[in-house]
Amino acid sequence: PAGRLEFVNGGWCMSDEAATHYSAVIDQMTIGLRFLNETFGACGRPRVAWHIDPFGHAREHASMFAQMGFDGFFFGRLDYQDRARRMRDKEQELLWRASDSLTPPMADLFTGILPNGYNPPEGFCWDQLCSDPPIRDDPDLEDYNVDDVVGRFLVIANSQSTVYKTNHIIMTMGSDFQYENANLWYKNLDKLIHYVNAQQANGSKVNVLYSTPSCYLQELHRANLTWPLKTDDFFPYADDAHDFWTGYFTSRPALKRYERISNSNLQTCNQLEVLGGLTSRKGPFGEGDKKAMAVAQHHDAVSGTEKQHVANDYARKLANGWQHCQVLVSNSLAALSGLSAERIYCDNLNVSVCHLTESSKKFSVNVYNPLARPVTWPVRLPVNGTAYSVSDASGKAVDCQVSMCASSFAVNELVFQVQAPPLGYTTYTVALIQDGPPPAPAQQRAPTVIQNKFLQVTFDHETGLISSLNNLETKQSIKLTQNFYWYNASDGNNVASRQPSGAYIFRPNSSTPVIISQTAKTEIIKTSVVQEVRQWFAPWVSQVVRLYADSRALELEWTVGPVPIDDSVGKEVITRLDTSIKTAEYFYTDSNGREVLQRKKDFRPTWNLKQSEPIAGNYYPINSRAYIKDDVDQLTVVTDRSQGGGSIQNGSLEIMLHRRLLHDDFRGVGEPLNEISGIFPDGLVVRGRLLLTLDPPQTAADTHRPLAEGMVLQPLLTFTDGDLKPNTQLEFSGLLAALPPAVHLLTLSQWDEDSVLLRLEHQYQSSESKVSSQPVTVNLQPLLKTFEDPSTWEVTLRPMEIRTFLLKVNLR
Ligand SMILES: *[C@@H]1O[C@H](CO)[C@@H](O)[C@H](O)[C@H]1NC(C)=O
Ligand SMILES: *[C@@H]1O[C@H](CO)[C@@H](O)[C@H](O)[C@H]1NC(C)=O
Ligand SMILES: *[C@@H]1O[C@H](CO)[C@@H](O)[C@H](O)[C@H]1NC(C)=O
Ligand SMILES: *[C@@H]1O[C@H](CO)[C@@H](O)[C@H](O)[C@H]1NC(C)=O
Ligand SMILES: *[C@@H]1O[C@H](CO)[C@@H](O)[C@H](O)[C@H]1NC(C)=O
Ligand SMILES: *[C@@H]1O[C@H](CO)[C@@H](O)[C@H](O)[C@H]1NC(C)=O
Ligand SMILES: *[C@@H]1O[C@H](CO)[C@@H](O)[C@H](O)[C@H]1NC(C)=O
Ligand SMILES: *[C@@H]1O[C@H](CO)[C@@H](O)[C@H](O)[C@H]1NC(C)=O
Repeated sequence: PAGRLEFVNGGWCMSDEAATHYSAVIDQMTIGLRFLNETFGACGRPRVAWHIDPFGHAREHASMFAQMGFDGFFFGRLDYQDRARRMRDKEQELLWRASDSLTPPMADLFTGILPNGYNPPEGFCWDQLCSDPPIRDDPDLEDYNVDDVVGRFLVIANSQSTVYKTNHIIMTMGSDFQYENANLWYKNLDKLIHYVNAQQANGSKVNVLYSTPSCYLQELHRANLTWPLKTDDFFPYADDAHDFWTGYFTSRPALKRYERISNSNLQTCNQLEVLGGLTSRKGPFGEGDKKAMAVAQHHDAVSGTEKQHVANDYARKLANGWQHCQVLVSNSLAALSGLSAERIYCDNLNVSVCHLTESSKKFSVNVYNPLARPVTWPVRLPVNGTAYSVSDASGKAVDCQVSMCASSFAVNELVFQVQAPPLGYTTYTVALIQDGPPPAPAQQRAPTVIQNKFLQVTFDHETGLISSLNNLETKQSIKLTQNFYWYNASDGNNVASRQPSGAYIFRPNSSTPVIISQTAKTEIIKTSVVQEVRQWFAPWVSQVVRLYADSRALELEWTVGPVPIDDSVGKEVITRLDTSIKTAEYFYTDSNGREVLQRKKDFRPTWNLKQSEPIAGNYYPINSRAYIKDDVDQLTVVTDRSQGGGSIQNGSLEIMLHRRLLHDDFRGVGEPLNEISGIFPDGLVVRGRLLLTLDPPQTAADTHRPLAEGMVLQPLLTFTDGDLKPNTQLEFSGLLAALPPAVHLLTLSQWDEDSVLLRLEHQYQSSESKVSSQPVTVNLQPLLKTFEDPSTWEVTLRPMEIRTFLLKVNLR
C-alpha cells in the first residue's frame, strides 16, 4: 500500500480524558483497533494517537497509548498560558514520560501540540461551511487572488516555523462536519500547493505537500533532536483567564455513575461468558453492551457535555446493552448453578426499589464477585417486613438487621454482610419472619459517636456535623468537619468577562461558597451490622454517615437534589472536608483511576502560572480517589464516579457533587445544564457515595487501592423467588486460588470461539506500599479452572504493569 490513506487513533471513539476510567478506555481502544485490523488488515493499524478535541489531557492516557505501541500522540487543546510559554521556548513538541512507576521508555510517548487545534490556519478554510474565498487563478478574472493567497500563506507558514523546532511543520486542513463535499477542499489545496511551491523558483524556501500525521512524525524522528521532558499532565485546561474547563469533571453526575456501574456489569457479563462455557452464549452476545460502553467514553458523552436528548440516548444504549447482557448472565449462572429458575435483576437498589424483595416472603440472592480475591460486601435490600432470617450457602445464619429506610423511596431496609469467593458467586437465602413497622430510630442531640474495630467517628452535638475521625488501630486522630455548600454560578454578566458557568466551564461568581446549613438534623441507628447517623441539611440535601462492622472505610452516602433555582441562581454543589492535616497547599488526585499526581494550589509544574480563577483554576479531575496528607496523617476519599475537586484552604478537600445551571457556556452544547426527567420533574436528584479512610501515609495505599478496586468492580446481585431447588450449586469460584493483593484481574473476556482475552495488572505504584509495591509473580496455570492448558506459565508483574494474553481454550 502507498500509505496515502492512514487511520489515526483508531479507538471506537475519541475518549474523554478527565472523566474516564482506564479499564473502559482500554476496552474501547480494543474494540476500535480490532475492527480496523479485521477490516483493513495489518496496514490499517494506526501508529499515531490523535486527541484533537478533548479538553485537557491525562497522564494515564499517554501512558496507555505508549503501552499500546503508538509511536506518537498529537492533540489540540492545552492551557493558553502553557501554550504561550511553549511557543516562546519551542516546546510544543515534547517527550511525555507518563508514569512514575514503569521503567522508561515503557510509558514514554512523543507528544505534539497542533498549531490550530483541529482547524486550518486562519483564512484557509475551503468547505461549504466556511466563508473564506476559493483560490481564483484565472488572471482574467476580476477577483483573481493567487498572489494574495500565496502571500498570506507564506506569512503564516514562516511564522509557524518560528514556534516549532524542526524544518517541518504540520497544518490540519479540515474541521468539525467538513469534507461533506471534499471536492471543495481538494480543488483548493491542489491549487495552493501548486502556487506556493512555484515560488521556489523565485527563492521561496517553503515546500507544501499532502501528508499524514505519521509521515510528519517520521520527519521529526529523522531530525534526531532531543525533546523536552514532561512528567505531569495537562489539567486543568483554560482557554482564557476566566474560562476554566473544570465544570465537566462533575457535569451530569447520574450519567457518570451510570457509566461506571455499566462498566462493572459489563465486566461481570464478560467473565460469566467465559466461565459459563458454551451454554452461556445461547442468548445474544454482549456485543451491544461493549459498544454502548465504548461510545460512552467519548469526550462529549461521559464528560456530560452533550445536549440532554443526547445524554438520554447514551443512557438508553447502556440500558439496552445491559438488557442483552442479562440474558447471558442468567444463562451462565443457570449453567454453573444448575438452577434454571427465573432470575430477577434489581437495577434500582440505589434508590431502594426492588419489587421482589419488597413483596416476597422467601427469596435467594446470588452475589457474583468479579474480583480475583474474596470480598466482603454490605447488601442493603428494600423490604416490607420487620424481621428476616438470612443464611449463607452452607446454611449458617447470618447477622442481619432491618431498619427504617433513610430515604422516602421504600419502607424498610434489610442489611447484612455477604462474603463472596474470587471470580465467582455465593448464594444467600432470605425468609420473612415478621411483618410490621420496625422500631423508630432514635432522635439524638446528645454527643454521638459511631465506631467499629477500625474507625471512630465523633459528631458535634450542637451542629450534628462530623467533628473528628480516629483510626483505632494506628491511634491516629484528626479534626474533621464535613458540610455541604454551593457556588453561585456566574451568569456571564460582569465586567471581567461575560463567561457563564455551563456544562464545560466552572465559573463561580464568588470564591466563598454559600453554606447550605450550619447544622444538620440527625438520627442515629446502631445495630451489630452497621452504625449510621442520618443527617438532613435541607429538603434537598441529606446524607447517611455509615460504618459497617468490618469496614476500614467510613461511608458518606449523599443525596443532592432537586437543586433549587427559584431564585434564578445556578448552583454548583460541593461537599467540603476541613481537617487538621497540615497540607501546605498540596493535594493528590488520580489519573483515570490509576496513578496519582501531586497538585499544588495556584501552581503548575511547567510554567509560571498567573492565577485568574482562585476556585475553578484549582480544580482537578478525580476519577477514583483524592487525598490530603502531612507526615503523620493521610485522609483519602474514594469516589464512586468521576468528579471535580480541589484543596482551596490548607487541610481542606472539596468535591463537586452536582451542578444545575441556567446558561449555556458557548462551547457548543447550546443548552444550559439543567437536568430534569420524568421521575424528577423538579430537577434531578442524585445519590452517591464517598469512602473515607485515615491512615499513615506510608500504608495508606494498602487501604485505598483495594477499596477503589472494589468500588469499580462491584458484586452483581441477582434474585430468585421462593425455595431453591435441591442440588443447586450454591457457591462457585472460577479460580483455584485468589490472586495476590497487588494483582488485579483487569479483563477476562471471550475473544473468539476458542480463545479468551486475559489482562492482569499490578495495581500499586512503585513506592506507595512496603508490602505491595514489589514485583509479583503469578502462575497462570492453576488460575482458571475451566482451562486445560498444561504448561506452567509464570508471569511477573512490576508496579503498574499491565500484561495482556490470548489464551487458547479447550472448551469442554
Ligand atoms: C489481525 O487480524 C488478523 C486476521 O484476522 C489476525 O490473524 C491477527 O491476529 C490480528 N492481529 C491482532 C493484533 O489482533
Ligand atoms: C518570480 O519573480 C519574477 C520577478 O518579480 C516574476 O516576474 C515572476 O512571475 C515570479 N514567478 C513566480 C512563480 O511567482
Ligand atoms: C543523532 O544525534 C546524536 C548526537 O545527539 C549522534 O550521536 C547520532 O549520530 C545522530 N544520529 C543520526 C542518525 O544522525
Ligand atoms: C408492603 O406491605 C403492605 C402492607 O403490609 C402492602 O400493602 C404492600 O403492598 C406491600 N408492598 C409490596 C411491594 O408488596
Ligand atoms: C449570586 O450572584 C448573583 C449575581 O450573579 C447575586 O445577585 C446574588 O445575590 C448572589 N447570591 C448569593 C447567595 O451570593
Ligand atoms: C457577580 O455577579 C455580579 C452581578 O452580575 C457582578 O456585578 C459581579 O462582578 C460578579 N462577581 C464576580 C466575582 O464575577
Ligand atoms: C498554607 O500552608 C503554607 C505552608 O505552610 C503557607 O505558606 C500558606 O500561607 C498557607 N495558606 C493559607 C491560606 O493559610
Ligand atoms: C440509580 O441508578 C440508576 C442506574 O441504575 C441511575 O439511572 C439513577 O440516576 C440512580 N439514582 C440516583 C438517585 O442516583
